[in-house]
Amino acid sequence: MMESIVNSENHPGVTIFRDLDEMSVAFFDFLDDEFHKAIVAGRSYHLVLSGGSTPLWLFQKLASLKHLKMNWDFLHLYWGDERCVPPEDPQSNFGNIWSAIIRYIDIPEENVHRIMGENDPDTEASRYAGILKKYPVQENGMPRFDLVLLGVGEDGHTASIFPDALHMLETDEICYTAIHPESGQKRISVSMKVINNAKIIIVLAAGSSKAEILRKVIQKNKKPENLPASFINPSNGTLKWFVDKKAGKKLKHGMSFF
Ligand code: 6PG
Repeated sequence: MMESIVNSENHPGVTIFRDLDEMSVAFFDFLDDEFHKAIVAGRSYHLVLSGGSTPLWLFQKLASLKHLKMNWDFLHLYWGDERCVPPEDPQSNFGNIWSAIIRYIDIPEENVHRIMGENDPDTEASRYAGILKKYPVQENGMPRFDLVLLGVGEDGHTASIFPDALHMLETDEICYTAIHPESGQKRISVSMKVINNAKIIIVLAAGSSKAEILRKVIQKNKKPENLPASFINPSNGTLKWFVDKKAGKKLKHGMSFF
């Protein structure tokens, strides 16, 4: 049974699901509704995918559950970040989502806007910024995506905005290079300002390893200043946290949320 810790209209809605299966049902019902509204309105839908394992699991589930034969030319896909590796590398966020779901849907190739991890990072960050200025609706001088999916790392990072690079929270750069603080892996990431310019942000978190960081990030009264995920806060949009019971075990009813 889903339990929802939903605060006042200014606070993010945190929904705690029994498990990933229940989360996947709710997630895809939400996507179905979003896509249906775009199709009925005859407009494109611009969706930013997250890296990491949580969304991958959800899209693998979708591919196994859903009838995917439909007209997908309304949909444009982007990535919030990418590892600087070629698409066939098992570390590639694009490569993993392509294998999980993209290869099963008839989406026009020109609508799949991957970050080319095989390119020189600085050159690619500039190229991708150009893509983000070209396709989605622009607002505040930034791309305004219909939906941005995010994960959260145990250190509080999101996309590839890490705690040791908080300048990426304030930059007006749309897209830039980053370095994973532990592995040293080069990354390309969109900025927090781009993320927070979205109409809807859904943060996906599952597993007990995320319980402590969620407690820190979502609580308002002890807002640590060095956790990038604490700064996920759409300026003119909706923030949802889709959390499984294990990840949400330290979130209790009545907690104050930012
Ligand atoms: C990446 C992601 C990263 C991810 C978190 C959570 O490229 O790794 O963008 O921000 O979302 O690390 O990853 P999990 O879903 O695997 O826990």
